[in-house]
Amino acid sequence: MIKRLILILGVVALPLMVGLLFTYDVIKIDWISFMEIQPSFNPQEDPLPLPARSVPVQGAAYIAELGAPVNPVPADEASLARGKAAYEVSCALCHGTAGNGAGPFSAFLQNKPFNLLEGAPLTNSDGALFLTITNGVAGRMPALIENLPTATARWDVVNYVRSLQAAGQ
Ligand code: HEC
Repeated sequence: MIKRLILILGVVALPLMVGLLFTYDVIKIDWISFMEIQPSFNPQEDPLPLPARSVPVQGAAYIAELGAPVNPVPADEASLARGKAAYEVSCALCHGTAGNGAGPFSAFLQNKPFNLLEGAPLTNSDGALFLTITNGVAGRMPALIENLPTATARWDVVNYVRSLQAAGQ
């Protein structure tokens, strides 16, 4: 009778003990159930290319085939103030605070930064300036999308450059 009881207890306890081996990770199986096991991108890693036919939340400005975008940000006082601050951080080093291309860093550059008050930067559309700021000029001017990550910030700079041009005439 006692023997039978021990046998029954053993039969009941055995699966329980085997289960505990898994519960306490004595036997470890890498079940794919963790958040970190998924496709992801680290900071500084190249962003994913846009999936076909998708429209970015920041607007169509990133879709190359659509050409230069139209400036949606009115050049009001707030936009110009934001643009001035961003320009002085991101552009003035090369293009100068007045926009004449004679920033303190320009002396060290082989390809001189353009004078923003004349020529192409003056006659090009707002959208063209926006794309130059976004993408830079290959091998000559850095893409400033990292410094000015939101589209609005870049439009503010466009508005501010326009005000520099108006003042420089
Ligand atoms: C590291 C220096 C540097 C910085 C910072 C910089 N630029 Fe430039 N930029 C250049 C150089 C160099 C060129 C000339 C490119 C060429 O020779 O085609 C240029 C060209 C341009 C052009 C003319 C592009 C064209 O082909 O018509 C515009 C507009 C312009 N920059 C605007 C800006 C604005 C706005 C910022 C700030 C958001 C900025 N740049 C920041 C160096 C710089």
